[in-house]
Amino acid sequence: MKNQKPTYIVQVFIFLFNAVLIQAQETIPQVEELLDKMTLEEKIGQLNLLTPGGGVATGSVVSKNVEEKINAGQVGGLFGVSGPERVRVAQELAVNNTRLKIPLLFGSDVIHGYKTTFPIPLGLSSSWDMDLIKKVARISATEATADGINWNFSPMVDIARDPRWGRIAEGAGEDPFLGSAIAKTMVEGYQGEDITDPNTMLACVKHFALYGASEAGRDYHTVDMSRTRMFNQYLPPYKAAIDAGVATVMSSFNDVDGVPASGNKWLLTDLLRERWGFNGMVVSDYTSVNEMIAHGLGDLQQVSALALKAGLDMDMVGEGFLTTLKRSYDEGKVTEPEITNACRRVLEAKHKLGLFEDPYRYLDEKRPKKDILTPENRQSAREIAARSFVLFKNHNQILPLKKDVKIALVGPLADSRNNMLGTWAPTGDTKLAITILEGFKNVVPNAKITYAKGANISNDKELANRVNVFGPRIEIDKKAPEKLLQEAMEAANSADIIVAVVGEATEMSGEAASRTDISIPESQKKMIRELVTTGKPLVLVLMSGRPLTILEEFNMPVSILQVWHPGVEAGNAIADVIFGNYNPSGKLTATWPRNVGQIPIYHSVKNTGRPAPKDKFEKFKSNYLDVENTPLLPFGYGLSYTSFEYSDLVLDKTEIGQNESISATVSLTNVGNYDGEEVVQLYLRDMERSITPPIRELKGFQKVFLKKGESKKVTIKVSAEDLKFYNGNLEFVSEPGDFEVYVGTDSNASLKASFIVK
Ligand code: BGC
Repeated sequence: MKNQKPTYIVQVFIFLFNAVLIQAQETIPQVEELLDKMTLEEKIGQLNLLTPGGGVATGSVVSKNVEEKINAGQVGGLFGVSGPERVRVAQELAVNNTRLKIPLLFGSDVIHGYKTTFPIPLGLSSSWDMDLIKKVARISATEATADGINWNFSPMVDIARDPRWGRIAEGAGEDPFLGSAIAKTMVEGYQGEDITDPNTMLACVKHFALYGASEAGRDYHTVDMSRTRMFNQYLPPYKAAIDAGVATVMSSFNDVDGVPASGNKWLLTDLLRERWGFNGMVVSDYTSVNEMIAHGLGDLQQVSALALKAGLDMDMVGEGFLTTLKRSYDEGKVTEPEITNACRRVLEAKHKLGLFEDPYRYLDEKRPKKDILTPENRQSAREIAARSFVLFKNHNQILPLKKDVKIALVGPLADSRNNMLGTWAPTGDTKLAITILEGFKNVVPNAKITYAKGANISNDKELANRVNVFGPRIEIDKKAPEKLLQEAMEAANSADIIVAVVGEATEMSGEAASRTDISIPESQKKMIRELVTTGKPLVLVLMSGRPLTILEEFNMPVSILQVWHPGVEAGNAIADVIFGNYNPSGKLTATWPRNVGQIPIYHSVKNTGRPAPKDKFEKFKSNYLDVENTPLLPFGYGLSYTSFEYSDLVLDKTEIGQNESISATVSLTNVGNYDGEEVVQLYLRDMERSITPPIRELKGFQKVFLKKGESKKVTIKVSAEDLKFYNGNLEFVSEPGDFEVYVGTDSNASLKASFIVK
């Protein structure tokens, strides 16, 4: 065991250093002058964030009397209001009618595009392409700011290892290394180089913290985890966003170690501000302050005081701050400096945007037409969507399809405009989405296509009612299911090839959309079983907002292309890939289980003291009686129309010091018949640690393009930082010992090399 003393001294030092840093942080004279003039009530007013309900209201509460409250100086910002004209009306109320003329912030959830909707974030992450992801964030920011928005409630960086949780759709999957790279990229994309530039906006990293680890995958449920898991697996993407300079943070709904995030001082102050040095603004999630009453932490006055004292600055929708902080102050339960500090951070956020110089900076009425939904943006959406698809199986190499074939295009998602955009696209317009039927007609005008719906997404009326909150997603046809199926079979029988578009409706994933059975709904399974009996080539185009359990379909003689919910250009992008205009290159960022009982399942598992032998059951080992430990599809998995061969893995060193980096080089050859892209992945195994290490951890990747027949040497560097982990004292250290390096096409990569850290 290590000596604890130096550790303690180092921690005290870090604490004091950070405290001095925070004190010494430059205050902004303009903000300080304003604070000096403000009454306590005016300061409290700035902490209030409301939504008039124009956007998606995700709680049961929608703000009332918004205009009166703005006029009374009781509002710091709004969300769900968009369009320069509408935003201007609200901004003018604040600027013209309040004593100190403090402008409002205007927020929105621009999660995967503003009006130009891109694939859902889980799909985007499957591109493993940081340039593309940055482009998505840049286009999103340009379009949103053109519409008057200056604050984005994105990126959502919650690590998720439970596909029952519907919000897995909104993030980058299960891995902290990839998740951190994406978090950084998105923050840089939204905030740009200069935040006062009117096509950049404040980013808001969410949901701090651990929201993706809710028990049993049920949304808003309890979270409880060890600090070492938290620091090593779940916190890195939030920290990466902070290190990239994210302006704001949103606290999550869940509890962290027994205290809900919005009232958790350890989380919002000790960790976020003191340890990580964050000095921006923290906003609650939708009514999450009030929800601490239901969590069992007291009445509204108590939980609001708790939140303020914990380090929360802005209260989203719940108005606990607005209605109770003054009373708490009068009763000595909160202090003036606590209120002032929160207000300072809200004002500093406004200052960052340049709103004090010009409250109407984002309100150029000419911009929407010029910047939103441009043909270039739609073209980007099409290209990016194609790069998010993951090829699971290519039976008899049937894909890509020839362009002049006779196709039966069937399935409830083949011509369903309402289901193309995906969850959390409140600013998108379903009417603009291209369906697969339309995409096929655009891309292969000479093909003979017969369409039939074939099945309802689900025949379950109750499920349809629950899913259809934002519009008709599951539409149960007037025709009987037998009739629908018969039409699909007729189409199939008269075609050469069947393409069936199946899976989840848009709102079957996302917020408050957890499922315990994550298979393709039975109505569609039935159709697939029937289609297979024709013996004709069958391509399943699979849509979903999460990993599904598809063991049955995977074992059929079919090809499978996973397309998530692809966004506004869905049909065109799918047709581009199916007909070979683009060779798929996506790789899974969340593991696909064999069955629900394996969940949580993820690639960076630990070994246990009784590891199960490969490919066979053994009593008293860590395995199941009824299913093997491996997933159906591992993290990093994804095929191409071509094939890549890996060879000659070499390291530049075999021994390094603790602060040195190491590089791995591998030869990659495109041995197939198509040009294509491959995501080369590097995994590390730390053979010995003071706390149990995962068997493998992703520590590097590179996306490379190879023409057919081409070979390239690919070098991936592992920095000294990448060898570090948080030990039992939560210090970020590297420890001497042996390491193994694996490089290959997915997390089962088998090319191996080793080195020693001295
Ligand atoms: C969600 C957040 C979102 C907020 C505002 C909440 O229900 O959890 O992700 O930013 O609503 O729309």
